[in-house]
Order: sequence, then C-alpha cells, then structure tokens
Amino acid sequence: MVKAMDQTDLLRELDQVVAGELNRHEKVAKEWFPHDYVPWSQGRSFDGLMGGDQWSESDSEISDIARSALIVNLLTEDNLPSYHHEIATIFGRDRAWGEWVHRWTAEEGRHAMAMRDYMLVTRMADPVELERFRMKHMSSGYELAHSGELLSSLAYVSFQELATRVSHRNTGKVTKDPMCERLLSRIAADENLHMIFYRNLMNAALQISPDQAVAAIVDVVKNFEMPGTGIPGFQRKAVQMAVEGIYDLRQHKDEVLDPVLRFWKVFELEGLSAEGEAARTELADFMAGLEKQALRFEDRRDMLRARMAPH
Ligand SMILES: [Fe+2]
Ligand SMILES: [Fe+2]
Repeated sequence: MVKAMDQTDLLRELDQVVAGELNRHEKVAKEWFPHDYVPWSQGRSFDGLMGGDQWSESDSEISDIARSALIVNLLTEDNLPSYHHEIATIFGRDRAWGEWVHRWTAEEGRHAMAMRDYMLVTRMADPVELERFRMKHMSSGYELAHSGELLSSLAYVSFQELATRVSHRNTGKVTKDPMCERLLSRIAADENLHMIFYRNLMNAALQISPDQAVAAIVDVVKNFEMPGTGIPGFQRKAVQMAVEGIYDLRQHKDEVLDPVLRFWKVFELEGLSAEGEAARTELADFMAGLEKQALRFEDRRDMLRARMAPH
C-alpha cells in the first residue's frame, strides 16, 4: 500500500472541498420553522403541576409500532451533543470544517425539538416514559465505532444520514397522521442534504487517497450499526421496525448502502494497490452475503405476515 496519509494531511487536503460543499449546501438548504409543523391548538395540559389529564395510550390513535418508531427516532436525534462532540473532535472548529460542524449541529437541533413538540402536543407518547428514556439514553453517551478516525467517520455518516432519512420517512408513513408525516418528511429532507455533503466529501477522499478510503468504507459497511443501539429496548424496537418495513435489511442494502457505493464508484475505481483490491473483493463478498440475508429476511417476514393476516 502507498504510504497512508495522516489525518492532518487529509483534513488539509479536503479543506477546499469542505468550503465548496458548505457553499453548495447553504444554497440548497431551505429555511424552515419547527413551530410551523406542530398543531398547537390540539394540546392540553398534563397532570402534575398543571393539574391536567394524565397521559393515556388512548389519547392518540397511532399504532404501537408507530409510537415505538417515533420514540426511537426522537431519542436518536436527542443524542446530538454526543454526535457534535464526535465530529467536532475529528473535524476541528477551524475554517470551513468548523463552520460545517456548527451549521450541521444547528440544523440537527431542530429535529428533536420539532418531533418532541409534535409528539407531546398530540399525546403520541407518554411524557414521563419519554423523559426517562431520554435521560438514560443521553447519560450513556455515544461514541462512533471509529471514533477519531476521519475517513471511517466520513464513510459512516454518509450511510447513517441516509439511513436516518429512510427511517424518518417511513416512520412518518406508519403514523397515518398526515401532519406528522409532513414533519418527518421535512426532517428527512435535511438528512438527505447531510448525506450528500458527507458523501461528496468522501468522494473527494477517494480521489486523494483511494486505498485508505476504500479500506475505511469496507470496514464501516461490514460493521454498520445505527446510533440508537443505546436506547432502552432498542433491539426489540429495531426488529419491530424491520418487520413493519420502516428500516429493514432490504432497505439498508438497496436504499442506503448500494446507492452510496454506486455514487463513489467503489467497484470501478482504478489504481488500487493489491491490499486495496483485496479490501474491495471483501466488500463484494459481504454485499453478496447481505443480499442473501435480505432475501431470507423477506421470506420470513412474508410468512409471518401471512400467519398474522385475518383469515
Ligand atoms: Fe436529524
Ligand atoms: Fe442529519
């Protein structure tokens, strides 16, 4: 392998790309206001200090699975301070990198705000349980699997922003609440722009240091985990969400991994070293295995649905 570039060199090499991407991002990102999406007049006080009504499951018509998905997505957004810490540590606070860190954080800050307002005003979730979950989740913090490593982190966030987009959009659909769906689509549109930013940056890194970038991508694809793993009951909720088609293996492969790998032309890149080629072969094998797993998952889900369908 050609001598690996160190992180400082990579940051410097990518500086101009970040500046350009930031500029492009600011032109395409539309201003929006969280309060616009919340039906405030539907709200009423809860018990306790305000002497209102205690929350009850029957306050909202949404299904259990929609409630679970909303909670997972909201808690994931809630952990923003940890994400900020992770990217600020890697990208730094200087120049365009720092500008992006703060701009991105500001945009992400809206997501939990708007979702929580919506869910509490419409009584979609138990406010006490939600707050306890938030405390638990945030208290354990979040660390990227490749904390401190620029290329792996860029690869990870490229996939993760897109995964969040898919999850928000599909969660919106299962609520069967048109305004909630609109809010989650609005948030999903932000996530998509974040994905584009990171994806383009990683694309530049692939030109600058292809072997290193490919190795990082392979590692991230093989070990990908959503950032919500610390949420109480996450595994069970993630399974429910997969069965419901909010975020499943098929979507993970076809709507998240495949399009980003295609954009990076990972399988067409030329000039890789022998190690780079080996890593790429490993990726191809992994993706083929994932396709088999996705097919198996779909079969099992079809059987489950057939069994659960009313006769
Ligand atoms: Fe977000
Ligand atoms: Fe995002």
